Amino acid sequence: MLRVRIAGTGSYLPERVVTNDEVAKWLDTSDEWIFSHSGIHARHWAAPEETSSTMGIKACEAAMASAGARPEEIGMVFCATSSPDFGTFPATASLIQAALGCRNAGAFDLSAACSGFVYALETARCWLLAHPGMKVLVVGSEVMTRTVDWNDRTVSILFGDGAGAVVLEAAEAPAGVREYHSLHGSDGDGWQAILREGGSRVEPPKVPVGEIAMQPVGFMKMNGRSVFNFAVKKLDEIIRKLCERASIAPEELTRVYAHQANARILEAVAKRVGLPIGRFYMSIAETGNMSAASVPFILDHAVRSGELKDGDLIALSAFGAGLSWGGALTVWPWL
Ligand code: UT7
Repeated sequence: MLRVRIAGTGSYLPERVVTNDEVAKWLDTSDEWIFSHSGIHARHWAAPEETSSTMGIKACEAAMASAGARPEEIGMVFCATSSPDFGTFPATASLIQAALGCRNAGAFDLSAACSGFVYALETARCWLLAHPGMKVLVVGSEVMTRTVDWNDRTVSILFGDGAGAVVLEAAEAPAGVREYHSLHGSDGDGWQAILREGGSRVEPPKVPVGEIAMQPVGFMKMNGRSVFNFAVKKLDEIIRKLCERASIAPEELTRVYAHQANARILEAVAKRVGLPIGRFYMSIAETGNMSAASVPFILDHAVRSGELKDGDLIALSAFGAGLSWGGALTVWPWL
């Protein structure tokens, strides 16, 4: 049967590491508070010249090298980001497509905040089943440290920068590869829980002349406690529903690759689902929350460290602004 395969993975982290102790030099906080509330010790900060596209390019290059994919074979670039190079357009995906020399590829961005990559992955999977003769790139890249106010200790300390990417291709799956299940959802009533102002909800320009309203881009605002509660509930639900659809018990999952937002969220989910916390891949201590980059980043690390192997039954899951959520249950590397 024709299926979609993750043919290669790649990721990129900027060089500069900013520890909690460094943050505590300018902010009224401490390593003890941040670690005990989030499991984060440090995060990476993009250099001034780095952007979501430059980091995404590096992650895609690594993914293409591991897949043995040539630029001209790529038919589409899907980029999940909520910190694009430009406020709205051009798409960061277009900048990545050009820099990689993918001259046969289309390109567009997807915005579902921290859930962006799991949405992009499913979109790309469906795309490939409709257009199986190409390879596609799915990249999550974020410069989250430029979306937060570093004077706001309740939000800023959680976030970091980085990118992750996968190359997908359509291929005949070997017999024995079980079904693939995915689910995606949104509760737009919760839009106020995490938001960043600076879109079309600004005062319209005064015509015929008058002042042209500047469109300020604000910092991220978040109700941490309500997002925490939502995340625990949703990640638990995603894993349970996916297992139900696959007619397996959660214990049969080799590993869960979940959005790295807060280690305490994952600990609470593990308890609810009834899995040991060791079953959840964790990178958050050193990276913080990299939004849409976090799931492809951990997949790449798991592959490169040798822990994620062909045939592993895994779950992917993420949640974020919207409110939005999504996940997939799959036999690696098949979708
Ligand atoms: O991708 C999705 C992104 N969002 C998330 O994943 C966020 C989920 N939420 C969380 O991770 C947690 O809610 C936080 C880590 C953000 C906050 O933890 P909390 O246990 O919910 O703390 P809180 O906001 O209820 O604050 C408790 C106290 C407050 O002081 P008072 O009012 O009790 O005196 C805060 O002012 O902790 C204080 N506080 C801090 N203290 C030191 C808040 N941030 C800090 C800080 N350092 N960085």
